[in-house]
Amino acid sequence: MKHYLDTAEEAARGAGKLLRQNFRRQQRVNAVAAHDLKLEIDIQAQELITKLLLEEFPEHALYGEEGVAGDQSTEHQWIVDPLDGTVNYFYGIPHFCVSIALRLRNEIMIGVIYDPIREEMWSGQKGEVPKLNGHPVHVSDRADLTEAVISVGLAKTGETINANFPLLQEMIHRVRKCRILGSAALDMAYVACGRFDAYIEQGISLWDIAAGWLLVENAGGTVDVRPRDDMKDKYSIVASNGVIDLKL
Ligand code: IPD
Ligand code: CA
Repeated sequence: MKHYLDTAEEAARGAGKLLRQNFRRQQRVNAVAAHDLKLEIDIQAQELITKLLLEEFPEHALYGEEGVAGDQSTEHQWIVDPLDGTVNYFYGIPHFCVSIALRLRNEIMIGVIYDPIREEMWSGQKGEVPKLNGHPVHVSDRADLTEAVISVGLAKTGETINANFPLLQEMIHRVRKCRILGSAALDMAYVACGRFDAYIEQGISLWDIAAGWLLVENAGGTVDVRPRDDMKDKYSIVASNGVIDLKL
């Protein structure tokens, strides 16, 4: 397992370096939607990660936000978001990350999330307490909802905004603060290390949450992920410290 984790960290650092070096430079925009952007650097970062992982593990497959590589029916599958927080990145907001998970059959074995601006690396493997820059982390122990700081994501389409907005409106009155920071993977990492007490989003993709899922659970929290019937390949997620009752 250590070899997988070391390689995942190396890939995350490599992609993170590329993102850091090009941050606040002119970006090539490949696609524009009302509430989303796709950049050339998303693809470049994924190519770098793919090359590194599949050169090291040629029999593995990769399932990423920017496409797939290798035989998707294989047992070992890397789940990759090369740049989570693309809109932040484009607008020069220093809050984005690289997220890499390894799934073996149906179980996530490795999870790595790297914030290249703050140089924060969360990394974990199944059955072990995850680490932030080498130090063990734990979810918060805050049980009182009125004291909680939580993240509610709105995702990126009119449909997901409509699904999340009523939740935000409800939660905002129940907790101390709701935050919408624009990177689901960092939201999960922040729950894992106790900065956030919970993170909720409807209409999220697997690459946004796969690494964070392992981190939160192994840091003592709970993660409830449910496939959406109404949105293809999208999920609803509630990740929390496991002691707070969100009253959902
Ligand atoms: C998005 C971010 C955002 C979340 C969206 C994601 P991207 O990922 O994680 O916080 O609300 O649901 O799609 O497009 O920046 O990789
Ligand atoms: Ca993403």
